[in-house]
Amino acid sequence: MKSNESKKGKSIILTGDRPTGPLHLGHYVGSLQTRVEMQEKKNYKQFIMIADAQALTDNADNPEKVRQNVLQVALDYLAVGLDPEKSTIFIQSAIPELAELNLFFLNLVTLARLQRNPTVKNEMKQKGFGANVPAGFLTYPVSQAADITAFKGTVVPVGNDQLPILEQVNEIVRKFNSIYGNGKNVLLECEALLSDTARLSGIDGKAKASKSMNNAIFLSDSSVTVKEKVMQMYTDSNHLKVSDPGKIKGNIVFEYLDAFDPDKSAVVEMKNHYRRGGLGDVACKKRLLFVLEEFLNPIRSKRESLAKNPDAVMQILKEGTARARAVAKKTMVEVKTAMKIDYFSKT
Ligand code: TRP
Repeated sequence: MKSNESKKGKSIILTGDRPTGPLHLGHYVGSLQTRVEMQEKKNYKQFIMIADAQALTDNADNPEKVRQNVLQVALDYLAVGLDPEKSTIFIQSAIPELAELNLFFLNLVTLARLQRNPTVKNEMKQKGFGANVPAGFLTYPVSQAADITAFKGTVVPVGNDQLPILEQVNEIVRKFNSIYGNGKNVLLECEALLSDTARLSGIDGKAKASKSMNNAIFLSDSSVTVKEKVMQMYTDSNHLKVSDPGKIKGNIVFEYLDAFDPDKSAVVEMKNHYRRGGLGDVACKKRLLFVLEEFLNPIRSKRESLAKNPDAVMQILKEGTARARAVAKKTMVEVKTAMKIDYFSKT
């Protein structure tokens, strides 16, 4: 048995998203695509969490936004083909065991270590928190450790911006086991599963696609919106005339074609033509628009039909949450026994 396999020989995948907005193409190439593939594999069991408690760490004053986006994210999941029969989709805050485990993990990290986490540091800068960072936000990697270990997750499909978080998760796991494990690995370390395109740039070419930067194409965007966004996309600022030779590197249209155009050899040819000169930005954008519409159309229609019945979607989440909670409860019994706080287990 390999160390990352559970007793039944299945590796557990645990992943999730903060419900702070609908999901976009960056989420698709960064993780959703991998999740859809992984749910078909017999050796894996997949848990997908809507991380509403994590979303509240920097949206404490905006609960309505988080609540609405729980449904939006669930719609995105189901529309791209995540199947609740094959993947357990659940809501983080509805599993109190995760909050409980987080509390014990908080004793295993130092403030200095939390402040060094490059992902959190970066996000804090973006959000302009400074010293007024909510404690829950600074410590979200710890709560993420609870999310992953409560399910014995060993495989975490995420974008590479999440790697420093997983490193910190594994530090907590090692510390937990060394203090409380009595020679055993009560909790398991995890590994990132990175996709080929772990980061997709925003349409402005300045940063990665994100809701907060307002530079992403959402899975739920209409054709009209997608067209506007593609036409605004950053290409090569020195490519002024069609006859000019153009640059591929940093050209967002080609980055998206690489990620979404199924005809790879056509993309190679377009790139050569663009480099030589004689291929205009608008022609490239038209091709990209065609490719994105082919990709998004089936997702849109599935999303629209699911959106007509939000109660049915919430029922799916309720059932997934009940299944997930049973697993987290079992882990908490093991955790409390290891920590010698299982006071009433025999009474
Ligand atoms: N931090 C992730 C994000 O911002 C969401 C998340 C919460 C998560 N808990 C997780 C991802 C556990 C993977 C595993 O999207």
